[in-house]
Order: sequence, then structure tokens, then C-alpha cells
Amino acid sequence: KKHLTKDVVDKCKNKKSKLGATLYDCISSGVENLDAGVGVYAPDADSYRTFAPLFDKIIEDYHGFKPTDKQPAVDLGEGKTKEFPPLDPEGKYIKSTRIRCGRSLKGYPFNPLLKQDDYLAMEGKVRDAFTGFTDKELKGTYYPLDGMTKDTQKKLIADHFLFKEGDRHLQAANACNFWPKGRGIFHNNDKTFLIWVNEEDHMRIISMQEGSDVGAVLDRLIRGVKGIENRVPFSRDERLGWLTFCPTNLGSTVRASVHIKLPKLSARKDFKSICEKLHLQVRGIHGEHSESEGGVYDISNTARLGLSEYQAVKQMYDGVKKLIELEKEEK
Ligand code: ADP
Ligand code: ARG
Repeated sequence: KKHLTKDVVDKCKNKKSKLGATLYDCISSGVENLDAGVGVYAPDADSYRTFAPLFDKIIEDYHGFKPTDKQPAVDLGEGKTKEFPPLDPEGKYIKSTRIRCGRSLKGYPFNPLLKQDDYLAMEGKVRDAFTGFTDKELKGTYYPLDGMTKDTQKKLIADHFLFKEGDRHLQAANACNFWPKGRGIFHNNDKTFLIWVNEEDHMRIISMQEGSDVGAVLDRLIRGVKGIENRVPFSRDERLGWLTFCPTNLGSTVRASVHIKLPKLSARKDFKSICEKLHLQVRGIHGEHSESEGGVYDISNTARLGLSEYQAVKQMYDGVKKLIELEKEEK
């Protein structure tokens, strides 16, 4: 609505991406969901170039990343995790910490252009990669969604481990074809290291645990990412960094979050704007498009593109540290 001007439509309406995606394929989700915050997805990597007149504006608006900007080199934060000691050592505010990143498999487009055979082949490839984990802490089991009982699925979702089902934004983006084929979750015994397969992105790699030890969570994520990238090549773009289906996740793809209670601060009318000024995004207890319950909020870094993985985590770390200071100062 905001960026799809007549000029943009005229520039894009007769174009097709390399794999045949049209402008309508990119905007269908926002057309069906007028309350969407962003509303567009790229059916394939080439769509970011072919439909650049639209994507560039949205990317700049969301990330502050200009058409001439370039994603910095990869810096996962290796060797620097000690810079992130527990944010709340007494456990007064923070319940849990999670860092996730997204990855796409080289050679495959995104959801709307995948066939059932692609989903199954991709699932097979990443499954092989999981079986190869040598790190004891990361070793685990893959649970395909196809065949999982509804009770197990519900419990995994309620406990914040598994993606939801039936997201209307993804459905309208044509991203749920052949569901649940090729979709699933890998996790270690403790459910502190998890990988979502073929939900919104080909892979979402997740590290999470109770408490506020950001350094430990990041350290585990780094080991996991490295363990997989040795086995399956990921697709990366010179300018946009790691490629994802949604433009909000490009670049570092990192969302580092805490589940946190800030009773005094969150009662203030300007709570969201305080967070925004600190480059923090506020979500509800069940993630995106959900509400807070029992005063618990999901607070994470807002930007992912134009900053390294390490910087994205630091954005959340510094911001949440400040929020806790402000909470302590409130009368
Ligand atoms: P994503 O983080 O992949 O963008 P969501 O916002 O939907 O997607 O969150 C996915 C799940 O992760 C949800 O169940 C959400 O409650 C959970 N989650 C996010 N941050 C935390 C956290 N710090 N601790 C525990 N669970 C979390
Ligand atoms: N398309 C949805 C919207 O515009 C989600 C945008 C960002 N979130 C995501 N999971 N990609 O509100």
C-alpha cells in the first residue's frame, strides 16, 4: 500500500523473474491481508532484482538499508560470546533467551516455486546434515510434521519450540503447498538446539534456553550453523547477504530475543516507543502476531540487514540491558 505506487507498478507489471514469478506473486500476501506489516515475499532470489523498484523501497523502509548499501562480511560472533554474560543473573526479569537465523539451500527457489519432490529432496539433504553432527550437545532427532500426532505438534508449539500452522500471511503467499510434506523439526534432547525445516524458510536454525545467558545461546548457535554449512551449501547474495523468503529477514537473518517481564515499564503508554528508540521489536508470548500474556513480552533486535550477525545480537543485548536499567529506575 505504501510503496506500490503507479510508477512501481508500471516498472514491474510486465516483468518475470528467472523462474517465472510475477509482481502479483510477490504481493499476493499483502493483497489478501491488508493488516500486514510488510506484505511481500520473494518467490525466488531473482525476484529481489527483477522487482527491485518495489523491494528496494520496502527494504530501505524496514532496515534503513539503501540500494547502494551492502551487507557486511559474515561475523557470527565467534570468539566474542564472552562479551554477552547473563543479562539478568538473578532471574528477576528474563525467563528465556533465543537466537535464530534463517538459511536457504543453494539451487532451490523459495516456497511458492517448490514442487513436492523439491520439498522431499531438500528434507532429505538437511536430514543427512543433521545425522552428521559430531558435537555431542547438538546431536538429536528429526521429527517430520507428516505423521506427527496433533497432540505432539500442539505441545511443541505451546512450549515455543515449533512453528505454528496455518499462518494466513504465508498461505496467501502460496507458501504452504503440499503441507506437511517435507516440513519438520530437528532438535537435540534438551530442546536447546532446533532446526525448522521448510516452514517460511528452508531452514531456521535456533538456539534457546531458560535464563538470560546470551553468550551461551550464541555459542551453541554458532557451533550448529558451522556444523551444517560444512554439509549443505547456503545461498548468499553479494549485496543482500543470506537470502530469505521475506525481505525482513535478509542479511544477518538473526533475531535474538528474550522472554521478559518488565511490569513497571510495560505499563507505560510509551513502552513500545521506548523499545523502538533502542532498535527493539516487541512481540507477544507466542511470537509474531500474538499478544503478551501474564506480562511476558518477546523483545528482539529489529534490524537484520546491514549489520553482521554479531551486531544484531549486540543490538538486542544492549537494548535489553538498558530496558532493565529503566525498569529498576521506575518508581
Ligand atoms: P521467529 O522467531 O522465527 O521469527 P516467531 O516470532 O513466530 O518466529 O517465534 C517462534 C517461536 O519462538 C514462538 O513460539 C515464540 O514464542 C518463541 N520464542 C521467541 N523468543 C523466545 C524466547 N526468548 N524464549 C522462548 N521462546 C521464544
Ligand atoms: N508478511 C507478514 C506481514 O507483513 C510477516 C512479515 C514479517 N514476518 C515474517 N515472518 N516474515 O505482517
